Amino acid sequence: MESTQRSIDYDLLTTRAAEELERGRERHVGLQLLCDLLQREVPHYDWFGFYLAVPEQRILVLGPYQGAPTDHVRIAYGQGICGQVAESQSAINVADVRAQSNYLSCSIHVRSELVVPVFRDGAFVAQIDIDSHTPDAFDQHDLRFIERLAEMVIPHLPQVQ
Ligand code: SME
Repeated sequence: MESTQRSIDYDLLTTRAAEELERGRERHVGLQLLCDLLQREVPHYDWFGFYLAVPEQRILVLGPYQGAPTDHVRIAYGQGICGQVAESQSAINVADVRAQSNYLSCSIHVRSELVVPVFRDGAFVAQIDIDSHTPDAFDQHDLRFIERLAEMVIPHLPQVQ
């Protein structure tokens, strides 16, 4: 964990995230504005995005994101960290992606990753995925913050077929 992380005001970020979601509501761009805000403002969030669940096909489809483009626009349940979260429906914090055998690389610069599921009415519908170029970048503050966001984004999620 880097020392910059300790100076991050997660309460202020939560307020700003809510403002961005609201600002984009009518144009259905709230999730994109949220990704833009957090990738820009949090030094250890190098890639911030959403994967949307298609449970009938057991795949995840890339949603709004900010950061380097990724080849992984569709991910089968069980594949990579994201696919494992889709199956377990629990958050996964990977301190060192290089030590993972079931991992889909987005970029050689990524060293750690946090994936948090999003539930609507108890059903798994999406996930928030964050990549960091810093090893072991995510702690309990990040996890609590992203779990809070996972509740805030529910009304803003698109329907995926
Ligand atoms: N690393 C992820 C794939 C998504 S990219 O990081 C954007 C995984 O292993 O599932």
